[in-house]
Amino acid sequence: MEPLEAAGTAATREDAPTGTPLLAMQGVHKVFHNGAATIEILKGADLELRRGETLAVVGPSGIGKSTLLHILGTLDRPDKGTVTFKGQEVFTLDDAALARFRNAFIGFVFQFHHLLPEFSTLENTMMPALIKGMPREAARQAAEEILRRVGLSNRLGHKIVTLSGGEQQRVALARALVLKPELLLADEPTGNLDEANSRQVHALLKTLNQDLGMTLVVVTHNMRLAGEMSRRVTLSEGKLVDADYS
Ligand SMILES: Nc1ncnc2c1ncn2[C@@H]1O[C@H](COP(=O)(O)OP(=O)(O)O)[C@@H](O)[C@H]1O
Ligand SMILES: [Mg+2]
Repeated sequence: MEPLEAAGTAATREDAPTGTPLLAMQGVHKVFHNGAATIEILKGADLELRRGETLAVVGPSGIGKSTLLHILGTLDRPDKGTVTFKGQEVFTLDDAALARFRNAFIGFVFQFHHLLPEFSTLENTMMPALIKGMPREAARQAAEEILRRVGLSNRLGHKIVTLSGGEQQRVALARALVLKPELLLADEPTGNLDEANSRQVHALLKTLNQDLGMTLVVVTHNMRLAGEMSRRVTLSEGKLVDADYS
């Protein structure tokens, strides 16, 4: 590890990831209709994310953090506005092309892990690689490698139901990472974990960002995790603004 000359130097380095924007969101609008009620969640939201950047999305429940993450991850389409990812305006793609694009470049981790409980750690982690059409042996190797990284080499054959909450969340992370996505989107990844397990997942996210150069967007209520990201934003009147989170 390089020595840190001064706190200021380290902060500057963290705040200046390299290269061109990986992702740009412009003028995004999203409205939901609940019966007769209309809720405008995003009203011209803009965001630029550079490669290797780590971004925390913070703020109270119901302001639209998950909605934002779903649109960034192309899981949901905006009513208006554009998202450009790796130079591709993603919402011009049809659903099938969009799914392929997403599978190739984006990983997701949710608060509730959505793992297949009756399948093993290894099988769950291999799943995205198999869906992509990777040969079984290559998928197994990729899964084993990432499971080693998250400290689960000794749980490969265990069914998900037999794992602890922290272990399950690490399997979810491994599954999200098995295809080495350039962008990882995590929606309250430690929302259901105790402090010790949360710390472990946080440390892992940080390492993955540093080692693989993975760009990271995390929705979190955890002050420490938000503080460790290079930038913090929140939603105000449907727009993304810098969060005062000191
Ligand atoms: N599919 C949907 N249909 C209707 N309303 C929705 C839908 N998804 C989210 N909402 C509403 O939009 C608001 C923002 O939700 P969400 O993005 O999940 O907020 P957060 O993640 O910040 O808690 C909430 O009031 C929620 O009820
Ligand atoms: Mg949410």
